[in-house]
Amino acid sequence: MSRSHPSSLASDANETGPPIPNLIGSGPAMEKIYRLTRQVARSNASVLLLGETGTGKELIAKAIHRLSPRGSGPFVRVNCGALAENLLESELFGHVRGAFTGAIENRTGRFEAAHTGTVFLDEINSTTPKLQVKLLRVLQEHEFERVGDTQTIRVDTRVVAASNRDLMEETETGRFREDLYYRLNVITIHIPPLRERREDIPLLVGHFLKIYNEQDFRHVPHVRSDAMQALVEYDWPGNVRELQNYIERAVVLAPGDELTPDLLPDVVLGRKPRRLGRHRAADLPALAAELVEQGIEAAGPQADNLHSMIVNRVERELIAQVMTQADGVQIKAADRLGINRNTLHKKLKEYGLEK
Ligand SMILES: Nc1ncnc2c1ncn2[C@@H]1O[C@H](COP(=O)(O)OP(=O)(O)O)[C@@H](O)[C@H]1O
Ligand SMILES: [Mg+2]
Repeated sequence: MSRSHPSSLASDANETGPPIPNLIGSGPAMEKIYRLTRQVARSNASVLLLGETGTGKELIAKAIHRLSPRGSGPFVRVNCGALAENLLESELFGHVRGAFTGAIENRTGRFEAAHTGTVFLDEINSTTPKLQVKLLRVLQEHEFERVGDTQTIRVDTRVVAASNRDLMEETETGRFREDLYYRLNVITIHIPPLRERREDIPLLVGHFLKIYNEQDFRHVPHVRSDAMQALVEYDWPGNVRELQNYIERAVVLAPGDELTPDLLPDVVLGRKPRRLGRHRAADLPALAAELVEQGIEAAGPQADNLHSMIVNRVERELIAQVMTQADGVQIKAADRLGINRNTLHKKLKEYGLEK
């Protein structure tokens, strides 16, 4: 597969047309997802999308909306991991003037904004128990009150939710309400990580190549077979989003009309990442020795053994570096790290990295 001519791959995708607009992939995993997407689109049932970050949950949520009878209504996304509890509550349900300090005007919530359409609750696993109760009620009764108000509002809004964590597991540990889980779980679509559907990688490469050639006025229609092989073999912890970024970068950097391995990041080529803060990844044994000498206290939270000491130290370096790259913007850094904002916030605190 990796040896097929890339430009023919790109045009193949056009001739047959993707089964659902914007969704690329023809392997059995994606076929199953297309089938489910079409089926659930017809109904009003809540849908739960489970998959690692960058696997296409948002894209699928939009497809469900567009293919549904509500397709001409609004599609409203709320990232539940990006806001603290109070802000999220008022974002979702709205508030009335004077409900809290700073509430100088009435505000319509996202559930109301999505009336006759679909609300996409991204990172639903990061909601707090209080909000989970309120969400359960909307799902069951289609009603709620704005923050600070007693008047009940009824909406006709379909809910699609996404989580990059196993919600079942979250209910077992008590972090997620079981009744809400079962309510959301009417239909669950599991989106496998890209490394478990490598057959789709050449198609996706062709797809993004086409997009970025057009967008950046470039002419890089070919992928050399050794570059394609590296792309197919890489493990893609950031899934399709990561692939998309690397193809964009390669298209911009390519001196000729061919995507060659040197245009891909070292990690894709199976080399060690260049730097991890001050320490090279290859220096980790030395770092471990250094930590043992220093004693455990320097290592951060819950470091009661060598393993967690080292993991903590590496995580601290990583977070510090990504925060710098993101100019201190936590939402950006959390996105890049693939963790939600609340988790990042907690870790910044634990590691004493808050400015
Ligand atoms: N099957 C796919 N076909 C084409 N593009 C995809 C596919 N899956 C993901 N993408 C792209 O990858 C990026 C990440 O997808 P997104 O839906 O935001 O993932 P998630 O919500 O799971 O983090 C987006 O730019 C999206 O357009
Ligand atoms: Mg997402």
